[in-house]
Amino acid sequence: MKMQKAWFYEEYGPKEVLKLGDLPIPSPLHNQLFVQVRAAALNPIDSKRRLRPIFPSEFPVVPGCDMAGVVIGKGVNVKKFDVGDEVYGNIQDFNKTNEKPKQLGTLAQFIVVEENLVARKPKCLSFEEAASLPLAVQTAIEGFKTGDFKKGETMFVVGGAGGVGTLVLQLAKLLFGASYVVSSCSTPKVKFVKQFGADKVVDYTKTKYENIDEKFDFLYDTVGDCKKSIVVAKDEGAVVDITWPPSHPRAVYSSLTVSGEILEKLRPYLERGELKPVIDPRGEYSFVNVIAAFGYIETGRAWGKVVVSCFPLEDIPQYQSTILSEIDTNIQQVNGLAKDLCLK
Ligand SMILES: NC(=O)c1ccc[n+]([C@@H]2O[C@H](COP(=O)([O-])OP(=O)(O)OC[C@H]3O[C@@H](n4cnc5c(N)ncnc54)[C@H](OP(=O)(O)O)[C@@H]3O)[C@@H](O)[C@H]2O)c1
Repeated sequence: MKMQKAWFYEEYGPKEVLKLGDLPIPSPLHNQLFVQVRAAALNPIDSKRRLRPIFPSEFPVVPGCDMAGVVIGKGVNVKKFDVGDEVYGNIQDFNKTNEKPKQLGTLAQFIVVEENLVARKPKCLSFEEAASLPLAVQTAIEGFKTGDFKKGETMFVVGGAGGVGTLVLQLAKLLFGASYVVSSCSTPKVKFVKQFGADKVVDYTKTKYENIDEKFDFLYDTVGDCKKSIVVAKDEGAVVDITWPPSHPRAVYSSLTVSGEILEKLRPYLERGELKPVIDPRGEYSFVNVIAAFGYIETGRAWGKVVVSCFPLEDIPQYQSTILSEIDTNIQQVNGLAKDLCLK
């Protein structure tokens, strides 16, 4: 059995339960791609899932939803992608209520993923930039839809400096036609947040929501602060909270839709440089430093996205052909079994 390097945990707990070791390389099912991971991004859900059994799975669990990488094999039913394609996506389809999230996430050298969950990586983006986008941008977009955002509305974004917030701000005018956008963050991040298109940035360490003398059509809360932030929403305004449970009775919870199509639709904006991935200015964390990367995102103070790069690369051509021959054998076996069953 071919093995790969992966980060995994075998019990729930703090980041220290994470281990780097050898796990079997997965094989793609008929509708799946087999991808060599080149970069991944962390999301708060990776930590929440590790801390307690919100999505009970068998151990070992490899954390990670977001990735960018290269297709090195595919199942027989894959139509849209070929070996050699550079792809990116969130491999965990949280919307499928009857299915558990994948046991093997993206903090590994190789992953398998359904072709409908990924998109071709725009050439203008590095693997790291691409990996930073999927889960956060899918969440950001869904919030506008959940609250039925209308062109020309004004909005207040709580948490404009986070992984989701930096994208909500960029999309507000670009995709959804917001007329006026105000956002909150702490003192050191005011300038940082301004660059994502906010007309005004409120330093929440100096100004309380009650002292903001404006009311907004749409309150988009990315930190679950609606108990307090609700005062900036107009009486008939939409209030969207992406944290669970929603932090005010008026707030509607918004959960992301996972799909490669969403990413594909963003391609022109990314290629024109109108939508920019936001990697934390500290820079990327190397694959060997995943525990430190989790330590940082778990402070709740990240600037944009926390990204992991420098995944160990093998001698691909030789390695690839060995793995692919194993996959081919597996697929042939499955096909053979299917034929046998049909004949009986
Ligand atoms: N429903 C869904 O589908 C979905 C999807 C993705 C994420 N989420 C959830 O949404 C939340 C945000 O996710 P994320 O990826 O954006 O997290 P993140 O990147 O870790 O967010 C960190 C940011 O939050 C800001 N922040 C913290 N408290 C704040 C406050 N009181 N006011 C303003 N800003 C504040 C911090 O800025 P300062 O240092 O300036 O405070 C920091 O920049 C998490 O709870 C996550 O689990 C839900």
